[in-house]
Amino acid sequence: MAQKTSELPTWSSKWAFILAATGSAVGLGNIWRFPYIAGENGGGAFVLVYLGCVLLIGLPLLMSEILIGRRGGHNPAKSMGLLAEICGQSPWWRWIGFLTIVSGLLLLTYYNIIAGWTVAYIFKSPSIVTLPPSEIPALFSALIANPWEQFLWLSVILISLFLVISRGLKDGLELINWIMTPGIIILLSILLIFVCRLDGFQQGIRFILQPDFSALTAHGFLDALGHSFFTLSLASGSMMMYGAYLNKETSIPRSSLTVAGADTAVAIIAGLVIFPIVFSFGLNPNAGTGLAFETLPLAFQKMRYGSLLSMAFFTILFFAAFTSIVSLVEPAVVWVIENFHVTRTTATLINCLLLWIAGTILILSLNYWSDFTPFGLTLFELATYVSANILMPVGGLFIAIFMGSVVHKRIIEQELGWLSTTLSFRLWYFIIRFVVPIAILFIAIRALGLI
Ligand code: PHE
Repeated sequence: MAQKTSELPTWSSKWAFILAATGSAVGLGNIWRFPYIAGENGGGAFVLVYLGCVLLIGLPLLMSEILIGRRGGHNPAKSMGLLAEICGQSPWWRWIGFLTIVSGLLLLTYYNIIAGWTVAYIFKSPSIVTLPPSEIPALFSALIANPWEQFLWLSVILISLFLVISRGLKDGLELINWIMTPGIIILLSILLIFVCRLDGFQQGIRFILQPDFSALTAHGFLDALGHSFFTLSLASGSMMMYGAYLNKETSIPRSSLTVAGADTAVAIIAGLVIFPIVFSFGLNPNAGTGLAFETLPLAFQKMRYGSLLSMAFFTILFFAAFTSIVSLVEPAVVWVIENFHVTRTTATLINCLLLWIAGTILILSLNYWSDFTPFGLTLFELATYVSANILMPVGGLFIAIFMGSVVHKRIIEQELGWLSTTLSFRLWYFIIRFVVPIAILFIAIRALGLI
């Protein structure tokens, strides 16, 4: 087996990798987005389609990204370039790796702001319970309208990010994931036990688990596909970068399956926590993006220990967001280190400053500059649109092509170990070569509004 040429460190153990990759996958997407898109698309029916997408499209691509990262052994751009050269193809493939890094950074520009809102709500929780219900939605609009407050929370996020990332793999990334990833699971389980006793529990469970196929549309199907991408942190450099720190002994298929399984479990548990609360207090499950910041606080207000529950919920959201944020910035930090030969501290500082400037501009686009709407979207909306609807699908498409047509089958077989002798391998290879590209083309056509 060819040796890695990299000087990058490796995770302390297989579990350190699994926790970090799970921390990356479990994010705002699971706890904030998944429940409301499931709510909009017929609950259980959507969940089934989503499970299919994770298994059929997300998981094979997740394995590919970890494989490319481990074999390449560098930042995603260099890993893809090197691997292409080894396979006798153009080193220009590095631009696809670079695209995934840019896509991750762009995603971060708005993800950091939402993470800031979650911290704001941890602190607002005690006062939420004392407000008249009519003022709860106004609390959220007031936050969005206030650039200073958002700037403060964005700064808190970025300073924390700097402190964690500049400490490196073991003392920074690993440590934070050892604390926060189990923290998400423990806190969420406590909330689940609590909601079991609510009147609306049965109704909530039925809503999320009982399939109503009549509510499922073609759009719902493509939403599930797009979300399976986002939730597994694909095409944004994170999984390739985490793969580059992985030792040769860890099985890629098994750990990918564990990560995808844990990610899906958290999304479903989040739904099982949120909907019983929503139904118990006669609220609307279709509040879309406002579900977490507007609908749920209304319920917390009426619950015993409401402020504690609210604090726990927003702490879960914050932990979920932060463990994703660290994975999103890491590829860009390593790219700067490897290209400009600066220290990790300098590379982290450069990235955090860049994100701070971009974040500030996006915050202003939510209030003072909300009239500036190129392509009919505010800058905040434009950043979400371009990263999720353009860069991620394009990146995913090329990663699948890279895996299916550029990387030699012999290399893939070496990396996948035992799997390469089984029927599953042939299935996986077929999926990567044909099914994933076609599925992504559909997401792209949908994203561009053509169907
Ligand atoms: N998977 C994260 C979520 O569900 C988002 C994310 C995307 C994180 C891409 C890293 C890379 O919220």
